[in-house]
Amino acid sequence: MVWRRVRIGCTGLSVALIMGAYAASCQTPDRHLLYLLRVASAGEIQSAPPKYVGPGSCSASACHGSIRPRSATKVLQNEYSTWIASDKHAHGYKALTEPLGQRIGAILKLPQPAEKSQRCLICHAVSVAPAEQAREFDVAEGVSCESCHGPASLWLGPHIQPTAKHSEMVEKFHLYDNKDLVKRTEKCLTCHLGAPGMSVDHELIAAGHPDLTFELDSFTAVEPPHWVEKNPDGSASADPLFGVKAWAVGQAVELQQSMMRLSRRAKSGPWPEFSEMDCMTCHHALTGPGSWRQQAGFEGHRPGDPPYNISRYVLFKHFAAEVDPRLNDQLAAETARVSALVTGMSADRAAVEATANHAAELAGRMIAGIRDASYDAARTQRLLHSIAADADTIALHGERTAEQATMTVDALYIAEAKANGPTPATRQAIDGLFQLVNNPSAYNGPQFAAQLKKVGSTLR
Ligand code: HEC
Ligand code: HEC
Ligand code: HEC
Ligand code: HEC
Repeated sequence: MVWRRVRIGCTGLSVALIMGAYAASCQTPDRHLLYLLRVASAGEIQSAPPKYVGPGSCSASACHGSIRPRSATKVLQNEYSTWIASDKHAHGYKALTEPLGQRIGAILKLPQPAEKSQRCLICHAVSVAPAEQAREFDVAEGVSCESCHGPASLWLGPHIQPTAKHSEMVEKFHLYDNKDLVKRTEKCLTCHLGAPGMSVDHELIAAGHPDLTFELDSFTAVEPPHWVEKNPDGSASADPLFGVKAWAVGQAVELQQSMMRLSRRAKSGPWPEFSEMDCMTCHHALTGPGSWRQQAGFEGHRPGDPPYNISRYVLFKHFAAEVDPRLNDQLAAETARVSALVTGMSADRAAVEATANHAAELAGRMIAGIRDASYDAARTQRLLHSIAADADTIALHGERTAEQATMTVDALYIAEAKANGPTPATRQAIDGLFQLVNNPSAYNGPQFAAQLKKVGSTLR
């Protein structure tokens, strides 16, 4: 069963695969959609309320609509062209009007078509109240500039001044601070994991919605980026290991946010919420007596219970243990408690809520240390070795963890190869990992473990 990412024109390819080798085959040309942006803005400092103006205001060729990158200013100036031609976000609204979007809406018996339903628009477009829309605003533009950069009416004028400072735009004019990797991840995750009032739960997934997974560095590569990463002083950064930092910060923030989501779901709504668990423990094919799961003995839980999807901690802990071992020990204990409660389908929702909140708080305390840690090639290699050495445990945690492991190893290897040069054998072994998670229902733990060890054996 390939239930994930059913795509018109690119059927069944996972993000991971698209990212690995097939990016070029996946460009859907007709992205002429418009849309609206939704943004939680950083602070209500300006007295005039900011409004959403739509991407048309950014698209002039002398601004961000150049066909090719330019060198006249600090930015590429072809951001609009990249977004409209190659970024799935421009397709966000249109996806709701296409057959899959319509079918999801019909199965859910939404009172209005998907493209008119707030439940969908909240993540697929800039979905804001009429009072926040400027005249040019059009919801059909999908996930556009202001979805990520914040409502532009107040910063649009000031930001083109030669003296414009990023910090001032952020503090005074509601530009969202994507240069801060923590804030950037938080922004992506509002839609790619969920936030209050924004949710993809098992009901939506069963109706046909792609399952949500995320890893900042991999998803940035797939987007593709319409920017060049810069150093904090504003100079363009050629740091080959930036991807390692993006991975690490992404993991820390995703762990925190996923615990917050669990806490919200424990508080209200359907419970147990199946999309918090490892999907494939329920959705795998039965292979008869002596299956690899039976042989592994359902480590750590009652046979037959659906394990909590702990994928956001299993890889991250390898780095967390190095950066802050004491805090990591606490985090390990608390995520184990969360896991036991969810896996056992605890009816004590208040206990799940409180435990998840505590785990979120611990993960939150870790974030600053992760962001400010130093990232070098030696550390990256250590991390890769440490993950490969943990292959058996990682693989037994199930398909969702294997998927995170694949994206993680890929992100770390790509960064390390930029610093030290490529190792074709490692590249090939990692491509093998992608193949093993391509059909999630057929996931096989021991095979994945063996392949991850193979990656380990090719490492420098
Ligand atoms: C919490 C945010 C969120 C909500 C709410 C949401 N979606 Fe999505 N949707 C996403 C994200 C993120 C993706 C891309 C997932 C990926 O590929 O990793 C997506 C993908 C899709 C796709 C596949 C798009 C494609 O190009 O193939 C369809 C169709 C879709 N959503 C329809 C809906 C419908 C219909 C609703 C409302 C019933 C809805 N979505 C609600 C976030 C959301
Ligand atoms: C999915 C989120 C997202 C969308 C949609 C998006 N951006 Fe971005 N953009 C980012 C991130 C993340 C960065 C990198 C951080 C930064 O430089 O602010 C960035 C960087 C930029 C930069 C470089 C800023 C600098 O100082 O180097 C420009 C210019 C830009 N975006 C313009 C646009 C325009 C124009 C659109 C719409 C056509 C758009 N963006 C849509 C997330 C997004
Ligand atoms: C306002 C909600 C929203 C935000 C914020 C957002 N996304 Fe998305 N993203 C979506 C939706 C919806 C889709 C699916 C669009 C479609 O396929 O029609 C998507 C699709 C994607 C895809 C394509 C996935 C695939 O399977 O091909 C990537 C990659 C991606 N987003 C990365 C990011 C990154 C990186 C950030 C943060 C910098 C981000 N997104 C922020 C809503 C959002
Ligand atoms: C605790 C068990 C359990 C878990 C965990 C679980 N599901 Fe389901 N799922 C079900 C059941 C039960 C149904 C309803 C089956 C039916 O009606 O035939 C279902 C239905 C579905 C369907 C529609 C059925 C179909 O054949 O297309 C999809 C798709 C789906 N789940 C995906 C997922 C994904 C993705 C996850 C993880 C995010 C997940 N499920 C987690 C039990 C589970």
